[in-house]
Amino acid sequence: MTSTLRRAADAQLELLDLHPAAADMRQLVIDGLRQEPKQLPAWFLYDAEGSRLFDQICEQPEYTLTKTETALLQAQATAMAAALGEGTLVEFGAGSARKVSPLLEALPNPAYVALDISSEHLADACRRLHQRHPQVPMVGICCDYSQLQQLPAHPLLEQQRRLGFFPGSSLGNFPQDEARALLRQFRHLLGPGSKLLIGIDQPKTVDRLEAAYNDAAGISERFALNLLHRLNRELGADFQVEQFQYRARWLAEASHIEMALISQRQQQVTLCGEIWSFAAGEALITETSHKYAPEAFLALAAEAGWQSEARWSDGADDLCLHLLKQAD
Ligand code: AVJ
Repeated sequence: MTSTLRRAADAQLELLDLHPAAADMRQLVIDGLRQEPKQLPAWFLYDAEGSRLFDQICEQPEYTLTKTETALLQAQATAMAAALGEGTLVEFGAGSARKVSPLLEALPNPAYVALDISSEHLADACRRLHQRHPQVPMVGICCDYSQLQQLPAHPLLEQQRRLGFFPGSSLGNFPQDEARALLRQFRHLLGPGSKLLIGIDQPKTVDRLEAAYNDAAGISERFALNLLHRLNRELGADFQVEQFQYRARWLAEASHIEMALISQRQQQVTLCGEIWSFAAGEALITETSHKYAPEAFLALAAEAGWQSEARWSDGADDLCLHLLKQAD
């Protein structure tokens, strides 16, 4: 593993690039289209345009997750910081790192390590955060944390306990077996004595759930359709985007929202040198979003070696921030 260390003008912010291997998108698309039903990995949705649209989704009135979690973090930061104790906060998939500020303000002697696969996004986010918290030592590490054997040797990660942070209910995008494996990977990367603060969206009424993924302004639809534009552009596919219709539905037995593009007629698409048939009404699943009641989430976490230490819920029981500790 090669790494380059870039030291910013201020010694308090460092950016470290582990040069994560680019995913073999072609192979993953072929694998996904061979499945029945056809389904692609959710992270394909997040090219530059997709990331922009996702930020817009978070602002739609029907999509309350981000607003509720942000408010909960602000309201309970003091209690969360007290329960976390001293250590270095390690955020997995920090993205724009818009949620961590209340914790950095409330923690005793905080230090912050942001992990993300997109180096530009990460550098921007770290610079913005560093301006806001100039006294907090920070490192941004560009990496694919799901593939890492271990976190790189760095004083902020070696000299203090590691406190994982994984907000946004991002875990919901993973099928259960992958979600469990990811929680194990966090446990491994964070090491003995660590804790994990993780945001988990909960089941609620079908109307609210489906509205959140079918906003009236149509941003969720554009977000899903952008995937086809991306495949056309990056893999030379010839999807006729207007021949697919977006559908988001709550599947109660699976406890997830399924987001899909439905083929409006029998049609063929050329992609990666192969011809793929879509029947009329056939779905291409773009992502699923799993919702866990607190007990269901804690059962999954226990299978990955994590124990519940505390949890904070918004007033309406929409979502929880769970504080987990290593079971050992
Ligand atoms: C980022 C996975 C939490 O499932 O609510 C929102 C993604 N997709 N609207 C979610 C998403 C469409 C989001 N997560």
